Amino acid sequence: MIVLKSPSELARMRRAGRIVARTLVYLRERIRPGISTVELDRLAEEFIRRAAGVPSFKGYRGYPASICVSINEELVHGIPGQRRLREGDIVTLDLGAIYQGYHSDAALTLGVGEISAEARRLLEATAGALSAGIQQARPGNRLGDISAAIQRYVEASGFSVVREYVGHGIGREMHEPPQVPNFGSPGQGPLLRPGMTLALEPMVNAGSPATRVREDRWTVVSEDGSWCAHFEHTIAIGEAEPEILTDLDLPDGV
Ligand code: MF3
Ligand code: CO
Repeated sequence: MIVLKSPSELARMRRAGRIVARTLVYLRERIRPGISTVELDRLAEEFIRRAAGVPSFKGYRGYPASICVSINEELVHGIPGQRRLREGDIVTLDLGAIYQGYHSDAALTLGVGEISAEARRLLEATAGALSAGIQQARPGNRLGDISAAIQRYVEASGFSVVREYVGHGIGREMHEPPQVPNFGSPGQGPLLRPGMTLALEPMVNAGSPATRVREDRWTVVSEDGSWCAHFEHTIAIGEAEPEILTDLDLPDGV
């Protein structure tokens, strides 16, 4: 069952979303060759807690950190450690925060210094697919309209949509129904209604869509070693336009 959120619940998710977005902006400003991924995790946890949030990933199914940091052929769920970013890498930062019992979740992939033209194209395709999905997130449409728009955008760019991991409803829990695949058919699935809150998150491989999980039991990588990108926003279905609760471009005091 898909839980619709009341205005006061949406207000809490909006606050959680602001914490997530401001943390991502703070980390983005600190991405440079030489910084270690565990340092990014420490910065993120401090920032979230100072903003009166709780990092939702920490302890989730035993996950040991506050953020996921996934580099190059790593798709999602990379565990922060001693590895340092290098010029030309692409790095995905994924994090969630809880504010007064309500969750928001967002991710983005960034270039470290100068990156290749092909890597730039992968990032732009994945960000564009997320925007195309968000455009479909309006009352009267169905969930499959979001999924299909994301898939179409990614595949038109010549890249592949991962099948094993999907977006999700979000609210009192980080993962609520419905699942939001990044592939599907227009006109299929549940009708979208105002008050639904969803985490849309295209996960895209430059090569084949197949993935595997590393020995650490967390890090998901592309099976063929091709590079991966991941962009995510928590959104609310409104009366007309969707509201992006984790918008990175809002000014600070909002
Ligand atoms: N952002 C991920 C998601 O949307 C959650 C990360 S899994 C965790 O499902 F273990 F790191 F929390
Ligand atoms: Co998510």
